[in-house]
Amino acid sequence: MSARSIRIGLLGCGVVGSGFVELLAHERSRIASRFGVTLNLGQILVRDGEKTRPHVARSTFTTNALDVLDGDCDVIVELVGGVDCAGAYVRRALRNGRNVVTANKALLATTGRELFDDADRRGVALGFEASVCGGIPIVQALTRGLAGDSVTSIRGILNGTSNYIVSRMEDGMTFDDALRLAQERGFAEAEPSLDVDGVDAEQKLRILASLAFDEPIVSAAVRGIRGVTGADIEEARADGCVIRHVATATRVPAGVALRIEPRRLSADDPLARVRDEHNAIVVNARATGELLFFGKGAGSMPTAAAVLSDVISIARSSQYARMTG
Ligand code: HSE
Repeated sequence: MSARSIRIGLLGCGVVGSGFVELLAHERSRIASRFGVTLNLGQILVRDGEKTRPHVARSTFTTNALDVLDGDCDVIVELVGGVDCAGAYVRRALRNGRNVVTANKALLATTGRELFDDADRRGVALGFEASVCGGIPIVQALTRGLAGDSVTSIRGILNGTSNYIVSRMEDGMTFDDALRLAQERGFAEAEPSLDVDGVDAEQKLRILASLAFDEPIVSAAVRGIRGVTGADIEEARADGCVIRHVATATRVPAGVALRIEPRRLSADDPLARVRDEHNAIVVNARATGELLFFGKGAGSMPTAAAVLSDVISIARSSQYARMTG
């Protein structure tokens, strides 16, 4: 079988983008022989065109997004983050009839419906597995794996940075030192208040709720981990508990209610054992019962793997999961 060739334009070569480039170099031949598609990188939008990066020739770098967006790529991978520039790039790519893969939960949580409508109108795909919980394939699980069942609730740890900070505080580190470490390790958002004030977890929960439920989201109560102290963690420990930043989506009479806050969990709760940058999601569904998804929710390579799996899905199929909310 001769492999079909797919050309990828990459917007952004930071933590996740550079992981994507490295992973693609490592997996390209396996993907070609297993799935019959050869994935080639076209131009890459970078901030600094002079900086050398492993696995790519400097000639592929551009500082002009239009070189990527208006070029001849089959799939545009958006990893610049933020809402304004990224939104303009994604809209242009879709209107140019290009398939798009993005890890940008902020963009989807704010303008997802418009972008999916754009993608539908053009008959192209918009992949977003990497936007929620890094390497955990929860988007595929909710849209395909659970298509035959009714989800009744979602409860999870959705922000790797907050969980990493709380885990380090359990080891005696201060909040500020733990946050600095999370930033150094590439888990935190460029603006880390999005992590520690609960905004990132809310955005992810909105995406998951829109995939899992037909009803509208009618309320969202959001609190981050900023107020959690070492003393709170010690008190919880003395009672055999831990503190975790927990996001829940539950059905209420008018629709779906979201709640994101630090909670005390007893040691036998599956979420209590989740440490470091790991995420976990407990999904309850009427026929299936309880399901637990666990894995690395932040970081270069797990997130890159989710991006690459979307690119492969698009390369293999014209049909693709979409957000409905
Ligand atoms: N800042 C995010 C987190 C990155 O810590 O979970 C992954 O979405």
